[in-house]
Amino acid sequence: MGHAMRVCYIATSLARSLGLPDSQQMVLYHASLLHDLGVPLVSSELTELIGVNENALFAASPRKPPEELVADCRAPVPETIIGAFHRHASLGGAKAIALGLPTEIGETIVSSHENWDGSGYPEGLAANDIPQLSRVLAVADWAESVIAEEQNSLIARRNLVAELEDVSEIILDPRLVEEVKSISRSDDFWLGLFAKELRRSLLVAKPHENGKSSWKAVVSLARGFAEVIDSKSPFTLRKSARVAEIAGQLAEAVGLPVDHVQLIHLAALLHDVGQLSVPARIMGKPDILSLTEMQLMQRHPSYSRLILEALPGLEEAALWVGAHHERPDGKGYPEILTTDLIPLESRIIAVANVYVALTSDRPYRRALSEKDAFKVLTGAAGTQLDTHLVHVFRSLH
Ligand SMILES: [Fe+2]
Ligand SMILES: [Fe+2]
Repeated sequence: MGHAMRVCYIATSLARSLGLPDSQQMVLYHASLLHDLGVPLVSSELTELIGVNENALFAASPRKPPEELVADCRAPVPETIIGAFHRHASLGGAKAIALGLPTEIGETIVSSHENWDGSGYPEGLAANDIPQLSRVLAVADWAESVIAEEQNSLIARRNLVAELEDVSEIILDPRLVEEVKSISRSDDFWLGLFAKELRRSLLVAKPHENGKSSWKAVVSLARGFAEVIDSKSPFTLRKSARVAEIAGQLAEAVGLPVDHVQLIHLAALLHDVGQLSVPARIMGKPDILSLTEMQLMQRHPSYSRLILEALPGLEEAALWVGAHHERPDGKGYPEILTTDLIPLESRIIAVANVYVALTSDRPYRRALSEKDAFKVLTGAAGTQLDTHLVHVFRSLH
Protein backbone atom coordinates (compact mmCIF):
# COMPACT_ATOMS: atom_id res chain seq x y z
CA MET A 1 0.00 0.00 0.00
CA GLY A 2 1.41 3.38 -1.00
CA HIS A 3 4.34 1.88 -2.94
CA ALA A 4 3.76 3.93 -6.10
CA MET A 5 3.45 7.18 -4.16
CA ARG A 6 6.64 6.53 -2.23
CA VAL A 7 8.51 5.59 -5.42
CA CYS A 8 7.24 8.85 -6.92
CA TYR A 9 8.44 10.78 -3.89
CA ILE A 10 11.91 9.22 -4.03
CA ALA A 11 12.19 9.58 -7.81
CA THR A 12 11.16 13.23 -7.78
CA SER A 13 13.50 13.97 -4.87
CA LEU A 14 16.31 12.43 -6.91
CA ALA A 15 15.30 14.37 -10.02
CA ARG A 16 15.39 17.61 -8.09
CA SER A 17 18.76 16.91 -6.55
CA LEU A 18 20.13 15.97 -9.99
CA GLY A 19 18.79 19.26 -11.31
CA LEU A 20 16.80 17.63 -14.11
CA PRO A 21 14.76 20.05 -16.23
CA ASP A 22 11.05 20.49 -15.43
CA SER A 23 9.92 18.59 -18.52
CA GLN A 24 11.87 15.51 -17.39
CA GLN A 25 10.65 15.85 -13.82
CA MET A 26 7.12 15.77 -15.21
CA VAL A 27 7.82 12.54 -17.11
CA LEU A 28 9.37 10.94 -14.05
CA TYR A 29 6.52 12.01 -11.80
CA HIS A 30 3.91 10.20 -13.88
CA ALA A 31 6.11 7.28 -14.87
CA SER A 32 6.90 6.50 -11.24
CA LEU A 33 3.25 6.67 -10.17
CA LEU A 34 2.28 4.29 -12.97
CA HIS A 35 5.41 2.14 -13.18
CA ASP A 36 3.57 -1.02 -12.03
CA LEU A 37 0.69 -0.59 -14.45
CA GLY A 38 1.76 -3.77 -16.23
CA VAL A 39 1.46 -5.93 -13.11
CA PRO A 40 -2.31 -6.51 -13.27
CA LEU A 41 -1.94 -7.05 -17.02
CA VAL A 42 0.20 -10.15 -16.50
CA SER A 43 -1.09 -11.38 -13.14
CA SER A 44 -3.87 -13.57 -14.42
CA GLU A 45 -1.53 -15.25 -16.89
CA LEU A 46 1.14 -15.76 -14.23
CA THR A 47 -1.37 -17.05 -11.70
CA GLU A 48 -2.58 -19.56 -14.23
CA LEU A 49 0.98 -20.63 -15.04
CA ILE A 50 2.33 -21.07 -11.55
CA GLY A 51 -0.62 -20.79 -9.23
CA VAL A 52 0.94 -18.28 -6.89
CA ASN A 53 -0.13 -14.92 -5.59
CA GLU A 54 1.27 -12.14 -7.76
CA ASN A 55 2.02 -10.16 -4.63
CA ALA A 56 4.70 -12.75 -3.87
CA LEU A 57 6.06 -12.23 -7.37
CA PHE A 58 5.99 -8.48 -7.54
CA ALA A 59 5.98 -7.21 -4.00
CA ALA A 60 9.08 -9.27 -3.19
CA SER A 61 10.73 -8.18 -6.40
CA PRO A 62 12.60 -6.35 -7.87
CA ARG A 63 14.89 -7.78 -5.25
CA LYS A 64 14.52 -11.26 -6.59
CA PRO A 65 15.43 -12.10 -10.17
CA PRO A 66 12.72 -14.04 -12.06
CA GLU A 67 15.13 -16.98 -12.42
CA GLU A 68 15.05 -17.34 -8.65
CA LEU A 69 11.31 -16.90 -8.51
CA VAL A 70 10.95 -19.70 -10.98
CA ALA A 71 12.97 -21.91 -8.67
CA ASP A 72 10.43 -21.19 -5.93
CA CYS A 73 7.46 -22.14 -8.06
CA ARG A 74 6.30 -25.44 -9.39
CA ALA A 75 7.43 -24.39 -12.82
CA PRO A 76 6.07 -26.24 -15.80
CA VAL A 77 7.84 -24.07 -18.39
CA PRO A 78 10.36 -21.66 -16.85
CA GLU A 79 10.82 -19.64 -20.07
CA THR A 80 7.08 -19.06 -20.32
CA ILE A 81 6.97 -17.78 -16.79
CA ILE A 82 10.02 -15.57 -17.19
CA GLY A 83 8.56 -14.31 -20.45
CA ALA A 84 5.24 -13.41 -18.83
CA PHE A 85 7.04 -11.82 -15.90
CA HIS A 86 9.25 -9.74 -18.16
CA ARG A 87 6.33 -8.63 -20.27
CA HIS A 88 4.91 -6.54 -17.44
CA ALA A 89 7.42 -3.75 -18.16
CA SER A 90 6.63 -3.45 -21.87
CA LEU A 91 2.90 -3.91 -21.35
CA GLY A 92 2.85 -1.31 -18.60
CA GLY A 93 4.65 1.22 -20.78
CA ALA A 94 2.40 0.52 -23.74
CA LYS A 95 -0.67 0.85 -21.54
CA ALA A 96 0.49 4.23 -20.21
CA ILE A 97 0.75 5.46 -23.80
CA ALA A 98 -2.65 3.95 -24.61
CA LEU A 99 -4.08 5.89 -21.68
CA GLY A 100 -3.09 9.02 -23.56
CA LEU A 101 0.05 9.92 -21.62
CA PRO A 102 3.11 11.27 -23.42
CA THR A 103 5.29 8.62 -25.11
CA GLU A 104 8.30 9.44 -22.90
CA ILE A 105 6.34 8.31 -19.85
CA GLY A 106 5.64 4.94 -21.44
CA GLU A 107 9.25 4.58 -22.56
CA THR A 108 10.52 5.37 -19.08
CA ILE A 109 8.34 2.58 -17.69
CA VAL A 110 9.37 0.08 -20.38
CA SER A 111 13.09 0.43 -19.59
CA SER A 112 12.79 0.64 -15.82
CA HIS A 113 13.82 -3.01 -15.40
CA GLU A 114 17.00 -2.74 -17.45
CA ASN A 115 20.08 -3.38 -15.32
CA TRP A 116 23.31 -1.39 -15.34
CA ASP A 117 25.32 -4.51 -16.28
CA GLY A 118 23.00 -5.39 -19.17
CA SER A 119 21.28 -8.31 -17.43
CA GLY A 120 17.86 -6.69 -17.27
CA TYR A 121 14.84 -6.72 -19.57
CA PRO A 122 13.17 -6.22 -22.01
CA GLU A 123 16.16 -5.22 -24.18
CA GLY A 124 19.22 -6.04 -22.11
CA LEU A 125 20.46 -2.45 -22.40
CA ALA A 126 23.49 -1.53 -20.30
CA ALA A 127 24.90 1.52 -18.51
CA ASN A 128 24.25 4.83 -20.24
CA ASP A 129 22.31 3.14 -23.05
CA ILE A 130 19.48 2.80 -20.55
CA PRO A 131 17.40 5.98 -20.66
CA GLN A 132 18.36 8.17 -17.72
CA LEU A 133 14.83 8.56 -16.36
CA SER A 134 14.39 4.78 -16.33
CA ARG A 135 17.59 4.49 -14.32
CA VAL A 136 16.28 7.02 -11.82
CA LEU A 137 12.97 5.15 -11.62
CA ALA A 138 14.81 1.86 -11.08
CA VAL A 139 16.82 3.29 -8.19
CA ALA A 140 13.70 4.78 -6.61
CA ASP A 141 11.77 1.52 -7.00
CA TRP A 142 14.63 -0.46 -5.49
CA ALA A 143 15.13 2.00 -2.65
CA GLU A 144 11.42 1.93 -1.82
CA SER A 145 11.35 -1.85 -1.67
CA VAL A 146 14.35 -1.84 0.69
CA ILE A 147 12.70 0.78 2.90
CA ALA A 148 9.27 -0.86 2.87
CA GLU A 149 10.73 -4.19 3.87
CA GLU A 150 11.82 -2.81 7.23
CA GLN A 151 9.14 -1.96 9.80
CA ASN A 152 11.41 0.30 11.78
CA SER A 153 12.12 3.48 9.83
CA LEU A 154 15.39 4.16 11.64
CA ILE A 155 16.72 0.76 10.68
CA ALA A 156 15.44 1.28 7.14
CA ARG A 157 17.38 4.53 6.99
CA ARG A 158 20.51 2.83 8.25
CA ASN A 159 20.23 -0.12 5.83
CA LEU A 160 19.33 1.75 2.70
CA VAL A 161 22.75 2.84 1.49
CA ALA A 162 24.44 -0.50 2.16
CA GLU A 163 21.67 -2.38 0.36
CA LEU A 164 21.85 -0.09 -2.64
CA GLU A 165 25.64 -0.37 -2.75
CA ASP A 166 25.28 -4.15 -2.92
CA VAL A 167 23.63 -3.86 -6.32
CA SER A 168 25.34 -0.71 -7.54
CA GLU A 169 26.98 -1.24 -10.95
CA ILE A 170 25.15 -4.55 -11.23
CA ILE A 171 21.54 -3.45 -11.28
CA LEU A 172 21.67 0.24 -10.48
CA ASP A 173 23.52 3.22 -11.91
CA PRO A 174 26.42 3.88 -9.46
CA ARG A 175 26.16 7.63 -9.88
CA LEU A 176 22.50 7.54 -8.89
CA VAL A 177 23.27 5.33 -5.90
CA GLU A 178 25.68 8.08 -4.78
CA GLU A 179 22.91 10.60 -5.25
CA VAL A 180 20.54 8.57 -3.03
CA LYS A 181 23.31 8.45 -0.46
CA SER A 182 23.44 12.20 -0.45
CA ILE A 183 19.69 12.82 -0.24
CA SER A 184 19.29 10.14 2.42
CA ARG A 185 21.42 12.23 4.76
CA SER A 186 18.65 14.79 4.94
CA ASP A 187 16.07 14.48 7.71
CA ASP A 188 13.59 16.33 5.53
CA PHE A 189 13.75 13.58 2.93
CA TRP A 190 12.76 10.95 5.50
CA LEU A 191 10.14 13.10 7.21
CA GLY A 192 8.54 13.70 3.82
CA LEU A 193 8.63 10.03 2.88
CA PHE A 194 6.90 8.90 6.07
CA ALA A 195 4.54 11.87 6.28
CA LYS A 196 0.83 11.11 6.63
CA GLU A 197 0.03 13.70 4.00
CA LEU A 198 2.37 12.26 1.37
CA ARG A 199 -0.49 12.17 -1.12
CA ARG A 200 -1.14 15.85 -0.66
CA SER A 201 2.50 16.87 -0.82
CA LEU A 202 2.87 14.91 -4.07
CA LEU A 203 -0.11 16.78 -5.49
CA VAL A 204 1.47 20.09 -4.50
CA ALA A 205 4.81 19.04 -5.97
CA LYS A 206 3.11 17.95 -9.18
CA PRO A 207 4.83 19.55 -12.15
CA HIS A 208 2.65 22.08 -13.89
CA GLU A 209 0.43 20.88 -16.70
CA ASN A 210 -1.38 23.15 -19.05
CA GLY A 211 -5.12 23.23 -19.28
CA LYS A 212 -7.94 21.20 -17.77
CA SER A 213 -8.89 17.80 -19.13
CA SER A 214 -12.11 17.61 -21.09
CA TRP A 215 -14.86 15.28 -19.87
CA LYS A 216 -14.20 13.11 -22.91
CA ALA A 217 -10.54 12.76 -21.92
CA VAL A 218 -11.52 11.83 -18.37
CA VAL A 219 -13.91 9.13 -19.60
CA SER A 220 -11.33 7.74 -21.97
CA LEU A 221 -8.77 7.58 -19.16
CA ALA A 222 -11.35 5.79 -16.99
CA ARG A 223 -12.01 3.35 -19.84
CA GLY A 224 -8.31 2.60 -20.03
CA PHE A 225 -8.16 1.95 -16.30
CA ALA A 226 -11.28 -0.19 -16.54
CA GLU A 227 -9.42 -2.42 -19.01
CA VAL A 228 -6.50 -2.74 -16.59
CA ILE A 229 -8.91 -3.69 -13.78
CA ASP A 230 -10.72 -6.24 -15.93
CA SER A 231 -7.48 -7.79 -17.19
CA LYS A 232 -6.88 -9.30 -13.75
CA SER A 233 -9.06 -12.24 -14.60
CA PRO A 234 -9.86 -13.92 -17.91
CA PHE A 235 -13.49 -13.92 -16.76
CA THR A 236 -13.90 -10.19 -16.51
CA LEU A 237 -12.79 -8.93 -19.92
CA ARG A 238 -14.70 -5.77 -20.86
CA LYS A 239 -16.82 -6.24 -17.73
CA SER A 240 -16.51 -2.69 -16.40
CA ALA A 241 -17.39 -1.15 -19.77
CA ARG A 242 -20.53 -3.32 -19.96
CA VAL A 243 -21.53 -2.47 -16.40
CA ALA A 244 -21.04 1.23 -17.16
CA GLU A 245 -23.12 1.06 -20.31
CA ILE A 246 -26.03 -0.67 -18.55
CA ALA A 247 -25.79 1.56 -15.46
CA GLY A 248 -25.98 4.58 -17.78
CA GLN A 249 -29.10 3.22 -19.53
CA LEU A 250 -30.72 2.43 -16.23
CA ALA A 251 -29.93 5.87 -14.79
CA GLU A 252 -31.47 7.47 -17.84
CA ALA A 253 -34.53 5.24 -17.63
CA VAL A 254 -35.25 6.30 -14.05
CA GLY A 255 -35.21 9.90 -15.24
CA LEU A 256 -31.95 11.27 -13.87
CA PRO A 257 -30.54 14.39 -15.57
CA VAL A 258 -27.86 13.99 -18.24
CA ASP A 259 -24.84 15.10 -16.21
CA HIS A 260 -25.87 12.81 -13.38
CA VAL A 261 -26.16 9.91 -15.82
CA GLN A 262 -22.68 10.71 -17.12
CA LEU A 263 -21.22 10.66 -13.62
CA ILE A 264 -22.89 7.32 -12.87
CA HIS A 265 -21.43 5.96 -16.10
CA LEU A 266 -17.96 7.12 -15.04
CA ALA A 267 -18.37 5.72 -11.52
CA ALA A 268 -19.49 2.39 -12.96
CA LEU A 269 -16.40 2.24 -15.18
CA LEU A 270 -14.27 2.50 -12.06
CA HIS A 271 -16.49 0.72 -9.53
CA ASP A 272 -14.11 -2.23 -9.23
CA VAL A 273 -10.84 -0.30 -9.28
CA GLY A 274 -10.31 -1.57 -5.71
CA GLN A 275 -10.06 -5.08 -7.17
CA LEU A 276 -6.53 -4.19 -8.18
CA SER A 277 -5.75 -5.05 -4.56
CA VAL A 278 -7.28 -8.52 -4.80
CA PRO A 279 -4.81 -11.19 -5.93
CA ALA A 280 -5.62 -12.68 -9.35
CA ARG A 281 -5.41 -16.10 -7.71
CA ILE A 282 -8.49 -15.27 -5.64
CA MET A 283 -10.36 -13.60 -8.47
CA GLY A 284 -9.99 -16.64 -10.70
CA LYS A 285 -10.55 -19.28 -8.04
CA PRO A 286 -12.97 -21.92 -9.25
CA ASP A 287 -13.78 -22.98 -5.67
CA ILE A 288 -15.54 -21.43 -2.73
CA LEU A 289 -13.29 -18.79 -1.18
CA SER A 290 -11.75 -19.34 2.25
CA LEU A 291 -12.68 -16.88 4.98
CA THR A 292 -9.44 -14.90 4.59
CA GLU A 293 -9.83 -14.81 0.80
CA MET A 294 -13.41 -13.66 1.21
CA GLN A 295 -12.31 -10.87 3.54
CA LEU A 296 -9.70 -9.72 1.04
CA MET A 297 -12.27 -9.77 -1.73
CA GLN A 298 -14.84 -7.91 0.32
CA ARG A 299 -12.47 -5.05 0.94
CA HIS A 300 -12.49 -4.02 -2.73
CA PRO A 301 -15.45 -1.58 -2.61
CA SER A 302 -13.76 0.35 0.20
CA TYR A 303 -10.56 0.59 -1.82
CA SER A 304 -12.55 1.77 -4.83
CA ARG A 305 -14.05 4.47 -2.62
CA LEU A 306 -10.66 5.54 -1.27
CA ILE A 307 -9.22 5.83 -4.77
CA LEU A 308 -12.12 7.85 -6.18
CA GLU A 309 -12.29 10.04 -3.08
CA ALA A 310 -8.83 11.33 -3.90
CA LEU A 311 -9.96 12.57 -7.32
CA PRO A 312 -11.37 16.10 -7.31
CA GLY A 313 -14.98 16.13 -8.48
CA LEU A 314 -15.51 12.42 -7.77
CA GLU A 315 -16.12 12.66 -4.02
CA GLU A 316 -19.79 11.74 -4.40
CA ALA A 317 -19.10 9.02 -6.96
CA ALA A 318 -16.67 7.60 -4.41
CA LEU A 319 -19.59 6.94 -2.04
CA TRP A 320 -21.53 5.20 -4.82
CA VAL A 321 -18.74 2.78 -5.72
CA GLY A 322 -18.12 2.10 -2.05
CA ALA A 323 -21.66 0.74 -1.74
CA HIS A 324 -21.99 -1.27 -4.95
CA HIS A 325 -22.09 -4.57 -3.04
CA GLU A 326 -24.58 -3.43 -0.42
CA ARG A 327 -27.99 -5.11 -0.56
CA PRO A 328 -31.49 -3.85 0.28
CA ASP A 329 -31.91 -6.73 2.76
CA GLY A 330 -28.81 -5.61 4.68
CA LYS A 331 -26.77 -8.67 3.78
CA GLY A 332 -24.26 -6.86 1.60
CA TYR A 333 -20.79 -5.53 2.31
CA PRO A 334 -18.71 -3.75 3.45
CA GLU A 335 -21.05 -1.64 5.62
CA ILE A 336 -24.16 -3.84 5.78
CA LEU A 337 -26.34 -0.85 4.86
CA THR A 338 -30.06 -1.22 4.23
CA THR A 339 -32.14 0.21 1.39
CA ASP A 340 -32.70 3.75 2.57
CA LEU A 341 -28.99 4.18 3.27
CA ILE A 342 -27.75 2.75 -0.03
CA PRO A 343 -27.42 5.53 -2.59
CA LEU A 344 -29.68 5.10 -5.64
CA GLU A 345 -26.57 5.29 -7.82
CA SER A 346 -25.03 2.30 -5.99
CA ARG A 347 -28.23 0.32 -6.43
CA ILE A 348 -28.15 1.11 -10.15
CA ILE A 349 -24.54 -0.06 -10.46
CA ALA A 350 -25.44 -3.18 -8.46
CA VAL A 351 -28.19 -4.22 -10.90
CA ALA A 352 -25.89 -3.65 -13.88
CA ASN A 353 -23.06 -5.49 -12.13
CA VAL A 354 -25.15 -8.55 -11.26
CA TYR A 355 -26.61 -8.73 -14.76
CA VAL A 356 -23.16 -8.57 -16.39
CA ALA A 357 -21.83 -11.17 -13.94
CA LEU A 358 -24.73 -13.53 -14.71
CA THR A 359 -24.29 -13.20 -18.46
CA SER A 360 -20.50 -13.79 -18.30
CA ASP A 361 -18.58 -17.04 -17.91
CA ARG A 362 -17.34 -17.58 -14.40
CA PRO A 363 -14.57 -19.85 -13.11
CA TYR A 364 -17.31 -22.13 -11.72
CA ARG A 365 -20.09 -21.86 -14.35
CA ARG A 366 -20.92 -20.88 -17.92
CA ALA A 367 -22.65 -17.61 -18.83
CA LEU A 368 -26.43 -17.57 -18.43
CA SER A 369 -28.71 -16.71 -21.33
CA GLU A 370 -30.38 -13.31 -21.24
CA LYS A 371 -33.68 -14.97 -20.37
CA ASP A 372 -32.24 -16.98 -17.49
CA ALA A 373 -30.35 -13.95 -16.22
CA PHE A 374 -33.62 -12.00 -16.03
CA LYS A 375 -35.19 -14.83 -14.06
CA VAL A 376 -32.36 -14.66 -11.53
CA LEU A 377 -32.60 -10.85 -11.37
CA THR A 378 -36.32 -11.07 -10.67
CA GLY A 379 -35.65 -13.60 -7.94
CA ALA A 380 -33.08 -11.27 -6.39
CA ALA A 381 -35.40 -8.25 -6.41
CA GLY A 382 -36.07 -6.99 -2.91
CA THR A 383 -33.28 -8.97 -1.30
CA GLN A 384 -30.05 -8.53 -3.24
CA LEU A 385 -31.30 -5.88 -5.66
CA ASP A 386 -33.65 -2.92 -5.68
CA THR A 387 -37.10 -4.11 -6.78
CA HIS A 388 -38.05 -0.97 -8.68
CA LEU A 389 -34.74 -0.89 -10.56
CA VAL A 390 -35.02 -4.55 -11.56
CA HIS A 391 -38.50 -3.77 -12.85
CA VAL A 392 -37.25 -0.77 -14.85
CA PHE A 393 -34.34 -2.80 -16.21
CA ARG A 394 -36.67 -5.56 -17.42
CA SER A 395 -38.90 -3.02 -19.12
CA LEU A 396 -35.90 -1.85 -21.15
CA HIS A 397 -35.63 -5.26 -22.84
FE1 LIG B 1 7.50 -1.08 -8.17
FE1 LIG C 1 -17.35 -5.30 -7.19
